[in-house]
Amino acid sequence: MAYPREFMDELIARSDIVSVVSRYVSLTRRGSGNLGLCPFHNEKTPSFNVSSDKQFFHCFGCGVGGDVISFVMKIENIEFPDAVAKLAEWAGMEVPQSTYGEGERNKRKRAQEACRDAARFFHERLKADAGAEARKYLLGRGLSPATITRFGLGFSPDSWSELLDSLTSRGYSKTELLEAGLVTTGKAGRIYDRFRGRAMFPIIDVRGTVIGFGGRIMGDGEPKYLNSPESAVFNKRKNLYALNLAKTSKADYMLLAEGYMDVIALHQAGFDSAVASLGTSLTEEQAHLISKYKSRVVISYDSDKAGRAATERAIDILSRSGLDVRVLVMTGAKDPDEYIKKFGRDKFAKLIDAALPAAEYRLGAVKQEFDLSDDKQRVIYLKSAVAQLAKLSSTIEREIYAGRIAEETGVSRDAIIQEAVRERKRLIREKKREEEKRILDPVGAIMPKDREARYKNPRSAVAEEGLITLAAGDVRLALRAAERISGKMFSSELLGRVFDVCITRARSGLETDMSVFSEGFSEDETAHIAAVFARNSELSADALADLMDIVRGESIKSEADTSDAALLAAAEFYRKKKGVGNT
Ligand code: UTP
Ligand code: MN
Repeated sequence: MAYPREFMDELIARSDIVSVVSRYVSLTRRGSGNLGLCPFHNEKTPSFNVSSDKQFFHCFGCGVGGDVISFVMKIENIEFPDAVAKLAEWAGMEVPQSTYGEGERNKRKRAQEACRDAARFFHERLKADAGAEARKYLLGRGLSPATITRFGLGFSPDSWSELLDSLTSRGYSKTELLEAGLVTTGKAGRIYDRFRGRAMFPIIDVRGTVIGFGGRIMGDGEPKYLNSPESAVFNKRKNLYALNLAKTSKADYMLLAEGYMDVIALHQAGFDSAVASLGTSLTEEQAHLISKYKSRVVISYDSDKAGRAATERAIDILSRSGLDVRVLVMTGAKDPDEYIKKFGRDKFAKLIDAALPAAEYRLGAVKQEFDLSDDKQRVIYLKSAVAQLAKLSSTIEREIYAGRIAEETGVSRDAIIQEAVRERKRLIREKKREEEKRILDPVGAIMPKDREARYKNPRSAVAEEGLITLAAGDVRLALRAAERISGKMFSSELLGRVFDVCITRARSGLETDMSVFSEGFSEDETAHIAAVFARNSELSADALADLMDIVRGESIKSEADTSDAALLAAAEFYRKKKGVGNT
C-alpha cells in the first residue's frame, strides 16, 4: 500500500461503515447489525446488512459485500484513491502525498490529455478546408453549427499519420498514443492513425474529460462506427454518451436512446436529458449511473425488431436499479433522429408524455403476438397476460390492466384478477423458498460470481465459517481455537487464510474486522468473507468447541483419504511392475 500505514489506519478508524453507508441508505438496527434496502439492486424487503462490529456490508439478495472503502468505490463508481480521498474529506483528514498507482495514474492522465488534444485536432480539421466534405455531411444530417460545436464534433483526415505526427510533435510518445487508442499497430509493427476519413464524435465522461471517440464513416461501408478500444481511460460499460450534458438537465427523467446521432438530434431539439450507451448493449453499471441523477428513465430505442429486443433487456436492467421505467412507442420512423426530422419536436414531446409504464408496454407487446379473434390464441394470450400482471406489485395497476384485458378478451375482470393474484402468490412463494434455501444453506449461498470458491467439503466449511467468525470477533476465543486448529487444517484455502490472519492479530491482542482484508485479498474474496460474517453473525461462543471438533475431524479424515489413495496407487504400481495381471 502506498499510503502511509498510520494514515490508512486512522482513516479506517475514523470511517465507521455504519455512518458512511447511512449517507446513502437508511438503516435500522436489527440484532447485532443494521438492515436496509440494498442500493445495488432493486428490492422491497431489506436484505442489506451492515455490521458495526466487523465493519462489513453484505446483501443477502444480490451478494455484494466488502469493507467501507469498497462500499464507497462501488456506490460512487470510483477508483480506490478517489474513495480514499472522499473518506478522508468526511473524516476531516488530509490525504498525504502518495505513490499509490502513480505509474498507472500518470499513464491515464497522459492518455486523457492525448484524447483531449486529439479532439481539438479533429475539430480544427473539420473547420479547415480539408473538412469541407465532413461539414457538408454533418450539416446535411440536420445538425446546426452550434450543435457541432457543443458536441465537439470533428473530422479525421483520410491519412495514415496526420494525427500521429501532430501529437508526437506535441511531445506524446507512440506508447502513450497507443494507450489512448488513437493509433494502432499494423502487421509489420508500423504505427498509424486509427481513425481515417471519418466524422468524429468525442466521448466525454461525466466530469467533462474526453475518454474516447466514435468515428462514423461518411456514406456506406463497414464498420459504420469505429470506436476507441477499451482502455485504462475508456470504459464502455461505465460511461454514457452525453451524460456530461444530460446530468444538468431540468427534465425529471433521463431519455435513453440507441445511437450517438439520436442523442445529438434530441439535444438539438431541446431534449437535453438524452444519453446513449457506447456501442454495446446497456449495462448494470450504466443503469446505476442513470439512477444517480434521475429516478425516471424513458427508453427511446429504435423501432425495429432489434430495438424492441434491446428494450426488453433494458427494462429489466433499469428496473433492477430501482428506476421508474417508461417506454416511448414510436411509429412512422426508425429512430428518434428520423422521427424529429419527419414530424417535429412537438410531436416527439407528446410521445415522451405518452410513454408507457414498462408493465403496460410489455402487456401490449404480448398482445401483438396473438390473433385475439381465434379462441385458442386468446387462451394463450390470457395466460401470458396474467403472467405479466402477476409480476406487478401494485394492486391498483393490476386492476387497471386486468380491466383492459377483460375488454379485449371478453373474460370477466374478476376472473383475471383472481388468476393473477393466484399466480402472484405462487411467484412469491417460489421466491421465498429460493431465498430461504439460499440463506439456510451456506454452501448454496455463495454468490455465483465466485464459483471457484465453492466448498470442496461443505460439512467442514460450514464449521470453518463459524470458526473464523468467532475468531475475528473475540481475541480470547481466537487464542483458544489456535491451540488446536490452524489454517492448514481448513478444507477451504480462503477460509484457512482468513483464520490465520485472525490468529496473528489475536496474538497481538487485536480483533479482526473487514478492513483487515483490503490487502492481500481479491474483491471477490472480500465479498465472500463479508457474506460469511453476515450469515454467521448470530453464532454463539458456546459453539466453539464443536466447531473445532468438526474441523479437526474432517481434516484428519481427508488426510486419511489421501493416504488411502496413495497406498492404493502404490499397490497398483507394484502390481504392474511385477507383471501381475489385474484380474
Ligand atoms: P445505429 O446504426 O443506429 O447508429 O447504431 P446511429 O447512431 O443511429 O447513427 P446513424 O443515424 O445511422 O448515422 C446505434 C449505435 O450503435 C453503435 C454506436 O454507438 C451507434 O450510435 N454502433 C453502431 C457501433 O458502435 N458500431 C457500428 O458499426 C454501428
Ligand atoms: Mn440509429
